[in-house]
Amino acid sequence: MRVRRLKWAEEFLGSAEVVVQSPQDIKGNWNTYMNRECIHLEIGSGKGDYWIKMSDMYPDIGWIGMERNESVAAYAVKKSEEAKENRKFIQNEAMHLLDYFDKEIDAIHLNFSDPWPKKRTTKRRLSHGNFTSIYKQILKDDGELHMKTDNSALFEYSVVNILKEGFSIEELCVDFRRETHDEDAISEYEQKFMNKGNPIYRAVFKKVKEEN
Ligand SMILES: C[S@@+](CC[C@H](N)C(=O)[O-])C[C@H]1O[C@@H](n2cnc3c(N)ncnc32)[C@H](O)[C@@H]1O
Repeated sequence: MRVRRLKWAEEFLGSAEVVVQSPQDIKGNWNTYMNRECIHLEIGSGKGDYWIKMSDMYPDIGWIGMERNESVAAYAVKKSEEAKENRKFIQNEAMHLLDYFDKEIDAIHLNFSDPWPKKRTTKRRLSHGNFTSIYKQILKDDGELHMKTDNSALFEYSVVNILKEGFSIEELCVDFRRETHDEDAISEYEQKFMNKGNPIYRAVFKKVKEEN
């Protein structure tokens, strides 16, 4: 997602209530911090549409949005308007997840991640093994990874890769919006692809328990 650099972003993010300024201090205590038994994390929240809508739809779940781009994150946080107990935001790169979380996340969402189509940029995909090995360490034992995209090549790559990385597949759909799914929010991003008539691919994976 490309946006113009916002001069006000750094200062704004540094004082916004919804932004967790020192997530490393909460490691191991997110349930208590958010006062919720169940915690979901969206990685690559972009301008925050999915994170905001889902946290409004599911108030009993703690929703953490994460975005590495400062200006994009500032848009997301500004859009969230009010701070809600079940909505928090981390502005940083997903490679730092292990500094912030123990095995305490119930579900991770990759909603319309950047496809990085060139072979030399494969490692940047959020479904690459460098990331999924981290996801396994911050997910609870039966934790889930939810993925949605309009990009068939990214979807194929991700399904094969995520299954290799120690997840099982629970749900798979190659035209998710063929039927109505009121339980899942449609971000502006997704709506744009739906308007073009693109099928939406979706899969839900479950972490396979490691043998001791
Ligand atoms: C296409 S946008 C996401 C749209 C949003 N999830 C939605 O559904 O509306 C992808 C976002 O992922 C962010 N991103 C990509 N790699 C990331 C990483 N390693 N850590 C954190 N954010 C990342 C990008 O900066 C970009 O804003």
